Amino acid sequence: MNKVDYLRISLIDRCNFRCQYCMPEGAELEYILRQELLANEELIALLKEVFIPVGFRKFRLTGGEPLIRPGVVGLVRDIASFAQTEDLAMTTNGFLLADMAQDLYDAGLRRINISLDSLDPQTFDKIIGNRGRSRWEQTWAGIQAAHRVGFDPLKLNVVVIPGVNDKEVEDLAALTIDRNWHVRFIEFMPIGNAALFSDRAWIPSEELRQRIRSQWGLVESDVRGNGPADVFQIPGAKGTLGFISQMSECFCDRCNRMRLSADGWLRPCLLNETGQIDLKTALRRGIDLAELRDKVRYLLQIKPEINFQQRDSGTKTGVYSRTMSQIGG
Ligand code: GTP
Ligand code: 5AD
Ligand code: SF4
Repeated sequence: MNKVDYLRISLIDRCNFRCQYCMPEGAELEYILRQELLANEELIALLKEVFIPVGFRKFRLTGGEPLIRPGVVGLVRDIASFAQTEDLAMTTNGFLLADMAQDLYDAGLRRINISLDSLDPQTFDKIIGNRGRSRWEQTWAGIQAAHRVGFDPLKLNVVVIPGVNDKEVEDLAALTIDRNWHVRFIEFMPIGNAALFSDRAWIPSEELRQRIRSQWGLVESDVRGNGPADVFQIPGAKGTLGFISQMSECFCDRCNRMRLSADGWLRPCLLNETGQIDLKTALRRGIDLAELRDKVRYLLQIKPEINFQQRDSGTKTGVYSRTMSQIGG
C-alpha cells in the first residue's frame, strides 16, 4: 500500500484568472466567505497538532490562486520551519510571482509548479479568460523570476485542449532542451466544466509522446517524482517532460495524497467526496485534538477503498459539481 504522507492545502478558492477548464466564465461560483476560510493560525494548528503527528511530511499550497491569499509568505515560513517538513511546494498561475518569488524562496519554499498553457499571448488570454491587456508577459516574467531565484525543480503545467493549444505541444516541449525545467502535459479532466468536455476534449498522453518522439526521440527518465506524472526526456535535453494521464490511465493505486480545502474540509480523493471531514468546524467547536487525529488516521486507513469509488463513472460523464478551484487542483 502506498504511504500517504502528502497534503495538498488549498489556501483560497478565488483566483485572478478564469481558466475555462477550471472556473469558466458564466459558471455561478459560490465563493467561500472570508469567515469560513480556515484562518492562518487554524491551519498551522491543524498541521502541528493533527497532520504532522499522523505522519504527513510533504505539503503543497494550492488555490484557486495561493498567491492572492493574505499572509501567504508567512504561512510558507511557518510550514517550512517545522522540523518534520520534508517537502514544501506550491502550484500557482505565476501572475504575481515576479514580485513574490524572492520572498517565497527566502521564506523556505523550494519547489514551484506554474501553469502555462500557451506560448502565444492571444491563445493564453483566451484560455485564462482575459479580455484586457495581455497577461502573458507578466506570467512569463513570473516564470523567469522563479528561475532566477533558484526554484528547483521548476515545473510548468500545460493542460492540453484540442483545437486550442494542442498545436503548441512541440514548442512547449522544446523549452526543456536548454533549460532545466519540467514541462508537464496534463490530460484535461471533466471537472467543473462539463460543457467543454466531449469524447475528444482530452488527448491521450501517448499521442503527444508520439509527436514528440517523431521530432526528437524520447527516452524514459529515471527521475520519478512523487506525483502522478510519467517522466520522459528529449535525448540530451537539460529538462524533462512529464505526462499526467488521469483520463487514459488510472494512477489511483499509487496515490499518496489527501486534500485540505480552503474552508477546512479534509478530502481523501480528488474525484470523490466519500469520507470528507469538516476539520474547521470540529476545531472551532473545541473538539479534543486526539479525537481529530483518530478521525484522520481512520481516513488514512480507508483511503485505498475510497480512491477507486465512482472514478470511472465520474470521469466519463463529467458529473463533478465542484470546480478544480474549489477542490484545490
Ligand atoms: P509534484 O509531482 O509533487 O510536483 O506535484 P503534482 O504534479 O501532483 O501537482 P500539481 O499541482 O502541479 O498538479 C498537476 C496536475 O495533476 C493537476 O492537473 C492536478 O489536478 C493533477 N493531480 C494532482 N493530484 C491528483 C490526484 O490525486 N488525482 C488526479 N486524478 N489528478 C491529480
Ligand atoms: N483538468 C486538468 N487539469 C486541470 N487543472 C485545473 N483544472 C483542470 C482540469 N479540469 C490544472 C491547472 C493547474 C493544476 C493545479 O491543475 O492547470 O496546473
Ligand atoms: Fe486560476 Fe489555476 Fe483555475 Fe486557472 S487553473 S482559474 S489559474 S485556479
